[in-house]
Amino acid sequence: MWKKRFALLLAALLGLPAGGAAAITVGVAPMARESDWRMVHYDDMFAAIKTEGWALMHDGPSTKVEDQEKALRRYVSQGVDCILLTCVGPTGLEEVLQEVNEAQIPLILIDRFPACMDQIAYAGAFRADFVEEGRRMAYWTANYLESAGRGDEEINVVILEGTTGSSAAEDRTTGINEVLAGYPNLKVVGSQTGNFTRAEGLAVMESFLKSIDKIDVVLAENDDMGLGAIDAIKAAGKVPGKDIIIVGCDAVKNAFDAIVAGEMNATIECTPLYSGAVIPLIKGLEDGSITPSREIMNPVEEAFCIDGGIAYTADGLLSIKAADVIDQRVY
Ligand code: AHR
Repeated sequence: MWKKRFALLLAALLGLPAGGAAAITVGVAPMARESDWRMVHYDDMFAAIKTEGWALMHDGPSTKVEDQEKALRRYVSQGVDCILLTCVGPTGLEEVLQEVNEAQIPLILIDRFPACMDQIAYAGAFRADFVEEGRRMAYWTANYLESAGRGDEEINVVILEGTTGSSAAEDRTTGINEVLAGYPNLKVVGSQTGNFTRAEGLAVMESFLKSIDKIDVVLAENDDMGLGAIDAIKAAGKVPGKDIIIVGCDAVKNAFDAIVAGEMNATIECTPLYSGAVIPLIKGLEDGSITPSREIMNPVEEAFCIDGGIAYTADGLLSIKAADVIDQRVY
């Protein structure tokens, strides 16, 4: 904080606007770049920080908790004004987060939270409801099969799981299985991690196709793995989107293109765009107009599919036809 007061004083002495360059320094913890989602997420956040004229500290990419710990400690020692954290895993940062708290640096949690969040202070917490996203993947599938006259058919489902131990993967798997339990004819015949990457989604799908005689549905816990599955299905001489139904999660541009081409059937939205909420929060914390909140903010999200009109929630929200909105999509 002293650094910021000094910058403001200097700006005043030099006759510069108080909100001028580098009035705020934001430290962003390093994180993997495993998916289209993650790329868009950081492009959006970094562009917004740049637009504000703030300074950015960021060591990335990395999948190691040790790298996050090192970076956070450095941000503390350099006295950043705010830290944005997406955890690579739920544990391992307990000690350094206490140090962040002791240094009274506002901490904003985004997307993947630490398991110790109840024991630490944070200024804001933003993420999708991953369990609900998993439920939506399963509801959409069951209702789509029903609408196609296949509601009573024995359906074999494979799940491409995200990174083991990540909340996005664990919670989506929970949501999927919770809903599928109500549809005994939808049987999970394979469930394996594809690490949220296209390459591993492809490899896991290839092995499923070799070892499982009949696959009707792929539930891919992100779009990248769904796109990998499309490649594997084509290589096996089958038609993605027709012989095998593919449902992804995220609603990234490449998934929209695949849906419009008829190769993917649906995607459940998980927005990567958090700058619109995080930047005003940082400003509000700085000028005192916003006080820290422990409430977890979930963005409003929808579902998109080939024809639209399929219910994807327990209370019957209807999916949107991807081709109708593809031109308005911003990621
Ligand atoms: O945590 C969000 C998830 O992580 C996104 O669904 C996925 O694509 C990403 O890698």
